[in-house]
Amino acid sequence: MTAKRSTPIRALEFYSGIGAFSQAAKPYGIEVVAAFDQSQWANQVYELNNRHKPSSRNLDSISIKDIPEADLWWLSPPCTPYSRRGEQKDMSDPRAKSFLHLIEFMVMKKPSTILIENVEGFLHSKMYEHLCQTLQSNGYLVDAIKLCPTMFAVPMLRPRIFIVARLADEDTRPLVSALRPIVAPPQASSAKTLSNFIDYGLNEFTAAHLLLSEADAEKYEPVLNVVNLKDASDAAQYVICFTSGYYRCRKASGTLLRLESGRLRFFSPDEILSLLGFSADFSLSNLDLPICYRLVGNSVDVRAIDYLLANALQ
Ligand SMILES: C[S@@+](CC[C@H](N)C(=O)[O-])C[C@H]1O[C@@H](n2cnc3c(N)ncnc32)[C@H](O)[C@@H]1O
Repeated sequence: MTAKRSTPIRALEFYSGIGAFSQAAKPYGIEVVAAFDQSQWANQVYELNNRHKPSSRNLDSISIKDIPEADLWWLSPPCTPYSRRGEQKDMSDPRAKSFLHLIEFMVMKKPSTILIENVEGFLHSKMYEHLCQTLQSNGYLVDAIKLCPTMFAVPMLRPRIFIVARLADEDTRPLVSALRPIVAPPQASSAKTLSNFIDYGLNEFTAAHLLLSEADAEKYEPVLNVVNLKDASDAAQYVICFTSGYYRCRKASGTLLRLESGRLRFFSPDEILSLLGFSADFSLSNLDLPICYRLVGNSVDVRAIDYLLANALQ
């Protein structure tokens, strides 16, 4: 893939969710020719923000004839099989079945570039070993890099692993050493603080729905990660990864804000989207709040994908 191409790069977005890849791909003129996700809610949001609707079929049983030709495949498969919080059943987890199935198709379809996102535990999994062996024995050069929003001057911890596999020719060189400089901490002057992402003008109705009940606040106080609203402009303050369970589980599923009144409130789904680098006009439709949290918690840092597209695909 080169910057000089005259025809647009054709991409497939597997496990498309709300479409972080499509968001990042827009400035590059990449044509997302098909997206796949079994969640009707995710697909509703995806369609509202893009011109096409993802296929809602279960990828466990997709047939190769239903996969269009493309130059680039983007995949962000379920992370529970490899996540610290899950049982780490790895390849034997039923949620890993669709990815195993797609690995078979990768080497039959041979897109020139494959980008995969997952949690840090993925790098230590049998699935990663299997993926690397399969791709390398079929002519791909495989690189892995860890990216986190903090590397892009955003005060949120959400480290994720990105695999970049490229069909190799004699000019293909490993990417990792070229990518390494991004790991340097951002310059303090360019770093944003949490105040850049907080909506100070929430309407009363929304604000009321974002409050944690006083009973829950008291019960879960010791395990909550909290930032004081009054400290939001302090460069040392950051939030921890918002998971899909943020609104329902209380432990280690994302940071809460302590208001001047002493009450705790959740970050809103729009604030989380902004931390993830989605554009201000991105819409979650009028879905219920718990569904919005599930969708944004499952999504991917748009800046990390932009970084891969800008650097890794040169
Ligand atoms: C980690 S999330 C990826 C989210 C996405 N990258 C985004 O930008 O929002 C995994 C997604 O895969 C979908 N999914 C999981 N298993 C699937 C399967 N077997 N077939 C189709 N979609 C699946 C889920 O509905 C979820 O949206």
